[in-house]
Amino acid sequence: MKLWAGRFQESTDKLVEEFNASIGFDYKLAKYDIEGSMAHAKMLAHCGIISKVDSQEIISGLEEILAEVNAGEFEFTVELEDIHMNIEKRLTDKIGAVGGKLHTARSRNDQVALDVRLYLRDQINQIKELVKQLEKVLLDLAEENIDIIMPGYTHLQRAQPIRLAHHLIAYQQKLKRDYERLSDCYKRVNILPLGSGALAGTKFSIDREFVAQELGFAGVSQNSLDAVSDRDFVIEFLAASSTIMMHLSRLSEELILWSSSEFDFVEISDAFCTGSSIMPQKKNPDIPELVRGKTGRVYGHLTQLLVTMKGLPLAYNKDMQEDKEGLFDTVDTVKVSLEIFARMMANTKFKAQNMKNATEGGFVNATDVADYLVDKGIPFREAHEVVGKTVLYCIQENKKLSDLSLAEWKIFSDVFDEDIYHAIAVETCVDARDTIGGPAIEEIKRVLEQEKN
Ligand code: ARG
Repeated sequence: MKLWAGRFQESTDKLVEEFNASIGFDYKLAKYDIEGSMAHAKMLAHCGIISKVDSQEIISGLEEILAEVNAGEFEFTVELEDIHMNIEKRLTDKIGAVGGKLHTARSRNDQVALDVRLYLRDQINQIKELVKQLEKVLLDLAEENIDIIMPGYTHLQRAQPIRLAHHLIAYQQKLKRDYERLSDCYKRVNILPLGSGALAGTKFSIDREFVAQELGFAGVSQNSLDAVSDRDFVIEFLAASSTIMMHLSRLSEELILWSSSEFDFVEISDAFCTGSSIMPQKKNPDIPELVRGKTGRVYGHLTQLLVTMKGLPLAYNKDMQEDKEGLFDTVDTVKVSLEIFARMMANTKFKAQNMKNATEGGFVNATDVADYLVDKGIPFREAHEVVGKTVLYCIQENKKLSDLSLAEWKIFSDVFDEDIYHAIAVETCVDARDTIGGPAIEEIKRVLEQEKN
């Protein structure tokens, strides 16, 4: 029954059969395997390696198999080890000995490299769309909530006032780079490995450019040993995915913090939260917690493949079959996380008053007092010192900077005047920071306009 049984005298141990098989997961490559085989069969006839009639018969057989796969009727078997042999065996069952001509000038080694590339091309395009969608949700939210002012943080300590829109656009910019990373990775995925054979190419006069054209690849690999021995393109994708998850995880962390009673900045919609089986008051932010949690598993897949590959001599080694489960799981995890995030964010309400109130404490306008003194001719270092003392006084007197009377301001410097009150109003502080990329409303509007196109 085995397609390679010729030189064997004993049948495979049952446990070995299961241990060795990849069909339990690489069945996901079925449609890509068929797509690749069709192009290969077409090329074999085009080059006169097999007859046109044989090629047509093979392609029709593969079409039928594709229909079986799509209808969920194809029976994958462990005895046939992997997706490649499952499909080839089905083909010969269907069309007889001519099916055996399909594997001319091909090895499973260049075939599997092709399948993974075809799969990944497809998935990268889908993930890019999902990233774009989430970017759009963030930009829309930024626009709708452009008037909300909140504290910006460093060390999770209130630092300077910003706009919520500024915070949301920060994530959109991160996602935009994630999108670019995927596009860049795509360029190296989009190279045809087929024609590399097991490791040393083939004697048959095949036409690799023809296959590349058929399958829409931008180029063909230039070293057969390299093409069948590397999974660096998978590693790159896992790294880009890890970076996406890292960004989603940080946003998750903020949503979790912001929905605590201590912050109380957001209300995630009920549809995206769960309750407690014992504490009736609870509404838990499970979704961001899970996305944060799943980030670790994607990092795990990246690390696993790096470690799997690090000691392998050229060219193909069976260790490389371990590239798939982590890849498939990463694709599923990143896709669902992006999708659920887009929907959850679109259903999140921001509490404008609480965010504004949080800018009142914590001296977020202290830098603006120093800048005020600088405007009046005082060197920045001296101004910093003066404001530090003023803040200390406020802490001791349990006052905000805006509570100080002019007489109190003058204790610290006689250049303080009535205009200090306007200078330290939070809106003034935010909108004065109008440098490129700053939180001023005009600048945010400009960036929104730019990013929406
Ligand atoms: N199932 C194998 C994999 O995923 C396909 C390649 C097998 N090649 C071989 N020489 N055993 O890597």
